Amino acid sequence: MRRSKITGMGSYVPPRVVANIDLEKLMDTSDEWITQRTGIKTRHWASDDVGNSDLGLEASNIAIENAGIKKEDIDMIIYATISGDYDFPGTGCFLQAKMELPDIPIFDIKQQCTGFIYALSMADMYVRQGDFKNILIVGAELQSKALDKSTKGRDISVLFGDGAGAVVVSATDINDEKNDPYIYSTHLHTNGQFADKLCCPAPGTALGPERMSQTLIDKGLHFPVMHGKVVFVHAVKKMTETICECLSANNLKMEDIDMFFFHQANMRINDAVGEKLEIPAEKIFNTVQKYGNTTAATIPLGMHDAMKEGKLKEGMLVATAAFGGGFTWGSAIFRL
Ligand code: UT7
Repeated sequence: MRRSKITGMGSYVPPRVVANIDLEKLMDTSDEWITQRTGIKTRHWASDDVGNSDLGLEASNIAIENAGIKKEDIDMIIYATISGDYDFPGTGCFLQAKMELPDIPIFDIKQQCTGFIYALSMADMYVRQGDFKNILIVGAELQSKALDKSTKGRDISVLFGDGAGAVVVSATDINDEKNDPYIYSTHLHTNGQFADKLCCPAPGTALGPERMSQTLIDKGLHFPVMHGKVVFVHAVKKMTETICECLSANNLKMEDIDMFFFHQANMRINDAVGEKLEIPAEKIFNTVQKYGNTTAATIPLGMHDAMKEGKLKEGMLVATAAFGGGFTWGSAIFRL
């Protein structure tokens, strides 16, 4: 039976580490507030001369090497980001040029913190359908250039960081459904009624005569807006629900899963999901303490870290879930 499996992982974070005390110099905040409310201690910020696709390229090169293939074997790229190089074209185009891989199809997708799960679902479908053998998925974010770093933006700017993760999804023939490595299933959801609860209005065509103007900048509409408590409550509820949905679709029990990778926005969100689902803490891999929220990069970045630390190994059954702006949420189960 033709299915798809993850054959390589890579990640990259820019070298500059920004600690909570560094943010105290930019805005009225404190290490104590950030640590207590979110668990975040540090995040990485890219330098001025680096763009999103530079981060994506570093992660992609590692993932391709890790998959044991040549870059020429990649036949599609799916690039998940909300902080791209340009407003258009998609950042995947810039990555493709840097990789010198002409003619293959590229998608940019904008599903916020759920971007990686959506990309995984797309890659799985394209591989299963038969025409594609090795699809590169990139989740990359350069959020530090999009934040209001004054006190006005502190509820959001302390949360986000820069980084990239990439995986290669390859075709596989499975004979043993219980033990072979492959993507079991993916589950995707959106509720656009909450679109304005976590968004960045400008540049945009819904706001008047020009998609970008001094008026929009003066109103601060080029910075993200978030209703933190609404997002928090829905994140806990929906990530919990979608993990249950994913297990049930595959007739699996919680204890069958070796490792869980949740989106990393706030340690309190993941603790609440873990508690509700009664998952032992050692099975949940968190990175929010050191990277903050890296949106679409979060899950592949975390998985590669776990692999490097020897906690994520071949043969393991993995469940992953994410929640983000849109609202979007989703989950996946795969054996590595
Ligand atoms: O991936 C999806 C993306 N986002 C999320 O999942 C985030 C979900 N939401 C959250 O994680 C939390 O709601 C936050 C961490 C954003 C906020 O935590 P909270 O416990 O909901 O705090 P709050 O918004 O109720 O703010 C409490 C106080 C406010 O002051 P007053 O009005 O009580 O005087 C804020 O002005 O904390 C203040 N505050 C800050 N103080 C110091 C907000 N941000 C900061 C800050 N430093 N950075």
